[in-house]
Amino acid sequence: LLMKELFGLGELEQELAVKFGLSEVVIVPGNADQSLAAKKALGRAGANVLLNKARPGDVIAVNGGTTVAAVAEMLTDSPVLKETIFVPSRGGLGEAVELQANYLASLMAKKTGASYRLMHVPDQMSEEVYRSLMNEPNILDVLKVIRRARIVLHGIGDALAMATRRNAPASLIAKLREKKAVGEAFGYYFNRRGEIVHRMQTVGLRLEDVHQAEIVIAVAGGASKGEAIASVCRGGSRDILVTDEAAAQSMIHLL
Ligand code: F6P
Repeated sequence: LLMKELFGLGELEQELAVKFGLSEVVIVPGNADQSLAAKKALGRAGANVLLNKARPGDVIAVNGGTTVAAVAEMLTDSPVLKETIFVPSRGGLGEAVELQANYLASLMAKKTGASYRLMHVPDQMSEEVYRSLMNEPNILDVLKVIRRARIVLHGIGDALAMATRRNAPASLIAKLREKKAVGEAFGYYFNRRGEIVHRMQTVGLRLEDVHQAEIVIAVAGGASKGEAIASVCRGGSRDILVTDEAAAQSMIHLL
């Protein structure tokens, strides 16, 4: 709290909330692009928000990435979280194993004493495989749990950076450039107005499920992500945003 007053971040939190129609904004000092301390602070703040919002019996869907991993690192044993179920929001998205939603859901469960369910599905698949997967009782079972998530915790990435990290084909990169995608979250790519310009074919939470969830917590920071975070916030609905000062400053200066 003292730090916040020192840096005048409370005002910036309110400004961002109004500008992007967010229900709550938490800003930590620094720039996660350049500082490990800022990334850890993001993780700590994200973990605190999760702890404050969770109720026994909740299903908590999480996605992957280094920022959600930072949240996982900060979670500890908690009587409330112990009574929750962590699930991945989607199947594999072509990330390194330790950045995948499945791994992070199990890590969060381990740190807090919660339960977890995993969903093992491939990243890229043909329409045919997709359709037959959707008839697998095991997959349908987990999907049902995932789709009743009360809380969704997710990272946000720069669109082109994410496509590259996932080894997207050149044709997709070209499409994202042409459609001016700037942000990405849970397999959806958004333009600066918050419109979806591309969606990955994966099994898991759909955007309509995210809108159904009672609490959606986005955790993302770093000066380079300002536009990306803004685009996802514009496409979302009254979410909670946990970010850092550098991203917040860049968001506030956007039109
Ligand atoms: O691939 C999972 C994911 O959460 C993406 O949806 C998001 O764009 C990205 O990771 C964020 O990753 P990071 O926190 O490492 O920037």
